[in-house]
Amino acid sequence: MKVDGHHYRSVWLTDDGLSVAVVDQTKLPFYFEIRTLRTCDEVVLAIKDMVVRGAPLIGASAACGLRLATLEDPSDDYLQAQALALIAARPTAINLRWAVDRVCSRLLQANPKQRADLALKEAQTICDEDVDNNSCIGSHGETVFVEHWRAKGSKNPLNVLTHCNAGWLATVDWGTALAPIFKAHNAGIPVHVWVDETRPRNQGAALTAWELKAHGVPHTVIVDNAGGHLMQQGQVDLCIVGSDRTTRTGDVCNKIGTYLKALAAHDNGVPFYVALPSSTIDWNISDGRKEIPIEERNKDEVLYVHGIGADNVPTQVRVTTTSEALNPAFDITPKHLVTGLITERGICAANELELLKLFPENRA
Ligand code: MRU
Repeated sequence: MKVDGHHYRSVWLTDDGLSVAVVDQTKLPFYFEIRTLRTCDEVVLAIKDMVVRGAPLIGASAACGLRLATLEDPSDDYLQAQALALIAARPTAINLRWAVDRVCSRLLQANPKQRADLALKEAQTICDEDVDNNSCIGSHGETVFVEHWRAKGSKNPLNVLTHCNAGWLATVDWGTALAPIFKAHNAGIPVHVWVDETRPRNQGAALTAWELKAHGVPHTVIVDNAGGHLMQQGQVDLCIVGSDRTTRTGDVCNKIGTYLKALAAHDNGVPFYVALPSSTIDWNISDGRKEIPIEERNKDEVLYVHGIGADNVPTQVRVTTTSEALNPAFDITPKHLVTGLITERGICAANELELLKLFPENRA
């Protein structure tokens, strides 16, 4: 995606292959800064502190981190320790484990002397595949948008509601839920996006709104509690969100608050789509509510809000006095609330049979 006329990915290995460059998402929307990570430990910290975030992006970043690990020490012991540290950095998004397992399985079979080159290639392949897959998701999703827009008479803008940030910043490029929005907008379909602010970290207000503005897509930021009301008023034509982990049976784990939007959509007959690359599908589990670990983050994310003051200096303010706080970062939307899963291979109903038709290699 372009920022001020320059094309950026959210993560990339630098030309000399010795470090990892990322867009620092803790600084957005007020400052666009590139941060250079020089060790695998720095990549682990960047994932933990959400300098990089979003399921596909943390997977790709971890793959790049393992490349740095091979430069530090290509031994089995070191790589396995770094792999565990990367996976533990964020427990919910399965893309992280998927990418680490994929890179490690290649590296551990090879002679340690060849591992640095192999890791470089594999990390770059994972990044490139993510871009291609998200672009395909965008094209499949665009067809859904066109259908809904035609169904409402092709006159007024298609009103789409999204939660959290599933744009290019959450992936290597394009995004998942936002890819169809970008593609439909590029194709001249009038799209307007309701952007859930997404407390506590405000990924919607800070990141999604910033991306949409940069791309020229009309949008309106709303508080997380407004979506149900807008659906009742007929102001939402469809919802689309990303996913951090989807079970083989179609249960969707995504940012906290997604479930409430899906319930409201169901009650109001509003289609609720989930856009996800297959790296987000956990083929080993069937019951999202029982089997997906929900990350609990620092309660300060609830107790404080961040922004910039009148002096343009980043600041945080406390929003309660001495109350306790709880901060589960994700929730599960059961499959029966999902209208369709938009993947790189096409769109299917949220159930095992249909998912396996698209991805038959996972039948076993
Ligand atoms: O905690 P985050 O910001 O990493 O959570 C991200 C989300 O929940 C996204 O909606 C998800 O990764 C969508 S996939 C691009």
